[in-house]
Amino acid sequence: MAFAAGWTPACRNAVLGGAIGVAAFAGLLLATSPFQASAQQPIVIKFSHVTTPDTPKGKGAEKFKELGEKYTGGKVKIEVYPNSQLYKDKEEIEALQLGAVQMLAPSTSKFAPIGVKEFEGLDLPFIFPDEAAYLKATKGPVGKALLQKLDAKGIAGLAFWDNGFHMISANKPLRKPKDLQGLKIRISGSKVADAYLRAMGALPQIIAFSELYQALQTGVVDGCENTPSNYYTQKLHEVQKHINVMNHAHLSYAVIVNKRFWDALPADVRPQLEKAMQEATDYTDAIASKENADALGAIKASGKSEVYEPTKAEREEWREALVATYKNVEGRVGKDIIRDLQAAVLSQ
Ligand code: LMR
Repeated sequence: MAFAAGWTPACRNAVLGGAIGVAAFAGLLLATSPFQASAQQPIVIKFSHVTTPDTPKGKGAEKFKELGEKYTGGKVKIEVYPNSQLYKDKEEIEALQLGAVQMLAPSTSKFAPIGVKEFEGLDLPFIFPDEAAYLKATKGPVGKALLQKLDAKGIAGLAFWDNGFHMISANKPLRKPKDLQGLKIRISGSKVADAYLRAMGALPQIIAFSELYQALQTGVVDGCENTPSNYYTQKLHEVQKHINVMNHAHLSYAVIVNKRFWDALPADVRPQLEKAMQEATDYTDAIASKENADALGAIKASGKSEVYEPTKAEREEWREALVATYKNVEGRVGKDIIRDLQAAVLSQ
């Protein structure tokens, strides 16, 4: 396990001992500089994430590693830890705040536990009619305002990364909203998803991404929603008989860093990393649609699950039912965020 230069042995032991959440460790982190750059010892950025390397996020993380190491001429070493191998969904944000890892890209549905509920506006069903609308909104003022809300939590938000639209699945066909009645559906954490599924009569349950396949296989939950690339790389289509390509909610990631670490980076390092992040973001956003289309093709070709494309009328019925649930969450997400997202979409 490599550590950022300048970490004290006590810090290292605290991390190695898995002592996340221990107040003494948090105190140490506050009292010491996160690193001191030296020519001999590169600054280490640990980038932890939960998907496989062959997803838009996995490929984006590798692209950032490649460019970040190149642009900083060896001053920075970027270690990518995919597949929840270091931390699961909730633990990874705690680890970032404590400085045990420096960079993550959680889906925006996972920010509520740290008190930034506004991010869940990005999970609203049918808020984005297409990828172009999503990109417009997140790259514009409302996207920037959302990232800035993380500052107060000791987190710097660097970018949004795209991973397409959600499908929804179960072991029975889901053609109409009423087909969800009584089904236990896995969600990743968003109260917005909880609200819209509950309003359809489903029983949403938060389960970590790394545990989803098993939860579906053993019947802990009946169904789930996710993007084609996540279904395919987690083999979810092998344990779900019916998939509806609804494209209802969008899966966005916020790439985030420990703010104290980021702010303390030397002047000859941070701009290079910002450039690398900008290019890795453009790359990820450019490949996301094709990655998801290819994954959907592979799921169909596997024959393991019936993949259903809803008719225009069916999609409209779902849209009306789900959009009606915005009112259930506007107090939580914020009317202004919903309004700003809708205005950004309309301004296309
Ligand atoms: C999920 O938990 O379903 C997603 O957030 C996983 C991911 O990071 O794509």
